[in-house]
Amino acid sequence: MKKIIAFAGSNSKNSINKQLATYASGLVIDAEVDILDLNDFKLPLFGVDLEKQLGGQPENAHKFLNRIKESDGIVLSLAEHNGAYATVFKNLLDWMSRIESKTFFGKPMLLMATSTGGRGGKSVLSIAQNRFPYHNANIVDVFSLPLFNDNFSSGKISNEELNEELKSKVKAFQEAL
Ligand SMILES: Cc1cc2nc3c(=O)[nH]c(=O)nc-3n(C[C@H](O)[C@H](O)[C@H](O)COP(=O)(O)O)c2cc1C
Repeated sequence: MKKIIAFAGSNSKNSINKQLATYASGLVIDAEVDILDLNDFKLPLFGVDLEKQLGGQPENAHKFLNRIKESDGIVLSLAEHNGAYATVFKNLLDWMSRIESKTFFGKPMLLMATSTGGRGGKSVLSIAQNRFPYHNANIVDVFSLPLFNDNFSSGKISNEELNEELKSKVKAFQEAL
């Protein structure tokens, strides 16, 4: 059985992106899903001086990178802060990239974002779509869920049209595994 990891680019306890990643990964048929939480991989703020002082990268950056390496696919939903990655995600990416610049190992990825606003995290999605290929990401499809509070309830997407769009993207992701 294929093993996929799902996580949010967020450290909020009630992360709406974690809720979306959990829902989307649950739609993948015949796969073992591991929902990861960045709070379980705490890292100091990246800096070259700290890296030198530590003589390398913290254990949690190695651990997270290994989780990606050992997976068959990635479901990732990015929180958008001021039009870009939430700090916790950028920090993780920076640390991991110092260990291995090809951080995504060519694993099929379903890349998503949601926000409480009407643009549904489209700015951070665009940043990630442009940047992740340099880290050997294999982005199978991209999905944005706008107005989370209007379009998501009881653990799933309540807007039928958006739900169908996500389902077809999950299918493409599954076929790429
Ligand atoms: C510092 C900060 C900046 C934000 N900037 C944006 C933004 O640029 N675009 C947006 O759509 N939402 C923005 N938001 C609202 C987030 O989309 C909202 O907090 C969302 O819940 C974050 O995702 P999460 O719950 O998965 O952490 C911002 C929130 C914070 C706290």
